[in-house]
Amino acid sequence: MENKKTRTAVTVLGLGKMGTAIAKTLLKENVRITTWNRTVDKSLVLEPEGAITASTVTEAIMSSQVVIISLSDYGVVDSLLRPLHNLMADKLIINLTNGSPIQSRQTANYLMSAGAHYLDGGIMAIPPMLGQRNALLLFSGSETAFNHHKELLTTLGTCHFIDEDPGRAALYDLALLAAMYGMFSGYLQSIALIKSAQVKAREFTPMVVQWLQAMTQTLSRMGEDIDSKSYADHVAARLDMQTTSFENLIDTYKTIGIPVDLVLPLKHHMETTVLNGYNNANFSSVFETIKGNKLNNDES
Ligand SMILES: NC(=O)c1ccc[n+]([C@@H]2O[C@H](COP(=O)([O-])OP(=O)(O)OC[C@H]3O[C@@H](n4cnc5c(N)ncnc54)[C@H](OP(=O)(O)O)[C@@H]3O)[C@@H](O)[C@H]2O)c1
Repeated sequence: MENKKTRTAVTVLGLGKMGTAIAKTLLKENVRITTWNRTVDKSLVLEPEGAITASTVTEAIMSSQVVIISLSDYGVVDSLLRPLHNLMADKLIINLTNGSPIQSRQTANYLMSAGAHYLDGGIMAIPPMLGQRNALLLFSGSETAFNHHKELLTTLGTCHFIDEDPGRAALYDLALLAAMYGMFSGYLQSIALIKSAQVKAREFTPMVVQWLQAMTQTLSRMGEDIDSKSYADHVAARLDMQTTSFENLIDTYKTIGIPVDLVLPLKHHMETTVLNGYNNANFSSVFETIKGNKLNNDES
């Protein structure tokens, strides 16, 4: 049955892992799709599912009012779109390519000056999650366009509009990736230690999961400490104690022969924070060093 979502013609530019998942998810919902990809084979395999293959980027953009972009980086996005500014009037460009806030704003500027509406998006999901509620998509840019196409976008996952500043979704995306990479690198460092005793990663992992789940319970409290700069109010583990324990971690890595390059900067940050007077405070106080603030300095 026709509805607003299926009436909207959508072009998907870029059929890598993510672009293909986006296209397939929309096709399952009977959205009319035109695709373009540098390697045309990835477009052709979607034809039996109902997609139309465009042979040029120009043809792809002219085919639809809504253009969803999922390319490897903004350099590629800009190299394809900048020469086509005369095609942009009244198009809605939804750019789901990962980039920095500055890149998002620059791309938004030239597309909007060419008459396009612009939404920048961050996908907090891997391709198999697309179409499920646990796939989180963050958007910034035109709130009007977001509201108008929310039904279509929600096909891909749970969607949040963050701000009219086009760079804001990229900032949120990178902030969430920062947390993810901290966890992933911590996990790999942890496994490097345990494997020195010939323990299998898969045997040890459930214990890591249980420990990290317990530790994530402390994040809300840490956030409150950071906002209020009240680092010494609820101290269960003093920073100077933790700095001593961290030294044991570094020593053990060295003894086993595991490079300490990943963990050494954190040790230096903890020591600097202690030296700046946070010895009685909790771990959240390391934020002041990460951010570059000294004790009692005002927020810049
Ligand atoms: N995969 C994920 O889990 C995930 C999650 C969230 C966000 N993202 C973001 O989604 C975007 C796409 O990721 P992906 O995983 O789909 O990457 P990918 O599988 O490496 O696909 C990259 C896409 O960019 C195209 N491309 C690269 N260089 C090009 C060029 N010079 N000219 C034209 N097209 C070019 C590729 O075309 P060819 O097919 O011809 O090589 C392909 O369509 C990235 O910004 C990524 O950060 C990915």
